[in-house]
Amino acid sequence: ERLTLVPAPLLAWYDKSARVLPWRSNPVPYHVWVSEIMLQQTRVEAVKPYFDRFLSALPTIESLAGASEEQILKLWEGLGYYNRVRNLKKAAIQVVERYSGQLPADFEALCSLPGIGVYTAGAIASIAFGLPVPAVDGNVLRVASRVLCSREDISKEAVKKAMAQALAAILPKDRVGDFNQALMELGAMVCLPGAAPRCESCPLAAICEGHRQSVAEELPVKAAK
Ligand code: ADE
Repeated sequence: ERLTLVPAPLLAWYDKSARVLPWRSNPVPYHVWVSEIMLQQTRVEAVKPYFDRFLSALPTIESLAGASEEQILKLWEGLGYYNRVRNLKKAAIQVVERYSGQLPADFEALCSLPGIGVYTAGAIASIAFGLPVPAVDGNVLRVASRVLCSREDISKEAVKKAMAQALAAILPKDRVGDFNQALMELGAMVCLPGAAPRCESCPLAAICEGHRQSVAEELPVKAAK
């Protein structure tokens, strides 16, 4: 199974080449959570100023839980998809009520909070708490499909689940958050969609079956909606 060879070169590349992002150097659970919600529909560069401003205004989960709708919408203005921030506040209230204001270090508990789905729960669990859970977004599905040269339809839940399981099996226990973020980062910076993959600068080129067969740009397969 080719995926077994992924972690070492990927982590070495991440250490050398990953962007320095404000939620990476000090992965406070609340900060990681806010970053992941902002990043759900918005690019990293656009998120940065909003992230800093949001946390300056609302530095704790308690302050978010107690903020007015008007204030949170003002802080989110321009990011769009305003249900994200409404859910964020709802979830903050639940975290205060159920967990004394601390995000739970538990994948299932995270999934039960408004606005936190399987991907976001995996990202928070691994990045903030070091729990061995995969975080499979569109970028990660593309990277995995290419490395494995898989033509399975990634819009199918069963296919996403199988990819997540394959990745769960190779998570390096001491660096799960970095590993998940390295996959996202590779998808965002190198293993670009469509005809644009930069295989010449990819740390996984030597083990990538899609690259070996010169079909990376055809992958992943995603049924037209
Ligand atoms: N997209 C979503 N979460 C991310 C993260 N932690 N790093 C880079 N891109 C992301």
